[in-house]
Amino acid sequence: MSKVSNCISIEELRKLAIKKVPSVIFDYIDGGSEDELTLGWNEDSFSKYEFVPNTLVDVSEIDLSTSFQGVGIDIPIISAPTGMSRMFHHEGERAVVRATHSMGTAYCLSTVSTCSIEEVAEESNGSKFFQIYAWQDQRMVGDFIERCKESGFDGLMLAVDMPELGKREKDLRNGHGRPKELKKNMALAALRRPGWLYHFVTKPTWVMANMVEHLPHGAQTAKVISEVNGQFSASVTWEDAAAMMKSWGGKFMLKGIQGVEDAMKAAEMGASGIVLSNHGGRQLDGAPAAMDILPDVVAAVGGRLEIIIDGGIRRGSDVIKALALGAKGCLIGRPYLYGLAAGGELGVLKAYEILKDEMIRVMKLIGCTSIKDLDESFVRRRG
Ligand SMILES: Cc1cc2nc3c(=O)[nH]c(=O)nc-3n(C[C@H](O)[C@H](O)[C@H](O)COP(=O)(O)O)c2cc1C
Repeated sequence: MSKVSNCISIEELRKLAIKKVPSVIFDYIDGGSEDELTLGWNEDSFSKYEFVPNTLVDVSEIDLSTSFQGVGIDIPIISAPTGMSRMFHHEGERAVVRATHSMGTAYCLSTVSTCSIEEVAEESNGSKFFQIYAWQDQRMVGDFIERCKESGFDGLMLAVDMPELGKREKDLRNGHGRPKELKKNMALAALRRPGWLYHFVTKPTWVMANMVEHLPHGAQTAKVISEVNGQFSASVTWEDAAAMMKSWGGKFMLKGIQGVEDAMKAAEMGASGIVLSNHGGRQLDGAPAAMDILPDVVAAVGGRLEIIIDGGIRRGSDVIKALALGAKGCLIGRPYLYGLAAGGELGVLKAYEILKDEMIRVMKLIGCTSIKDLDESFVRRRG
């Protein structure tokens, strides 16, 4: 299992990623906040459900296609916004957007990406969304909105779960927030990963590519991290979210909704979708897994907006269970990041292929030919 092509599961891609990138970087991808309770709950939440298969159904053709915020997609999984991708592989977001679009699905770019809105738009012309924050600097937020309009992005996804950065203890121990210590730990860890180190020293420095004109030091990541962290606003309200939705004027989702009340507020506000998400267990430790709140949220607002979930999806069966309970689709974060770290674009493709193959297999085994026909009759809670 030393090559991406030999990996047969997301867990095997994860193990390969451990061997390819410095430990400090792998910890950043893999870790969660505090005691990592929510991180664990995310993965466990799917095993609370079992399938109720139908047999003797002609399953020779399986249709996984659906739509996401008005755009047609071939599979019900979408690339979640994840920051800083050039840390994981020198091609960063460019590799991810190419692989995502070649699988016929949608890509969501993070605000804190290492390739810009324009670079991603140039790289591939499939469907693209932009994850935005309601930051302190309104000028910067306005600039992002205008640039997304000019670059033909299909929608905005406002992350609402970051009034403050989660306490990610692996990162703190590795030196995040203490530049000298981080540099020393990175240098030591990088020496053990010469392949990664070669690209690090021969390729341009990572920058917060969307902010080059707004931040000092040409937005070089290591130098502007505190300015960027200072941008997270603790005073953002529903009024601010509504104002941003208005100024965008197109598909607008809220990412990081964690309960029924907020889902109802999002529907009242007129958002076109919500992502039930706890940021992959990286923010509030003790936040619920999306799967555990999905049935109540579907009962409250299903039909009024699109409900997407993320967190802990590591198998195609996880996606099928979420769809059966009423999710329109799922975002994946770490699965493609493990692939990216393990082998760049090929690794991202591999992550998607593994999940697609598993979804098709499960659909055949439960006797359902189209994801449009999935409903709660196909799953039940165990015990
Ligand atoms: C390394 C990493 C970076 C992330 N960066 C962002 C980000 O910049 N913006 C954001 O809204 N979510 C970010 N997320 C959260 C993802 O969008 C998504 O909610 C999460 O990864 C889903 O959980 P999963 O990794 O278990 O699939 C990040 C997640 C990871 C693992």
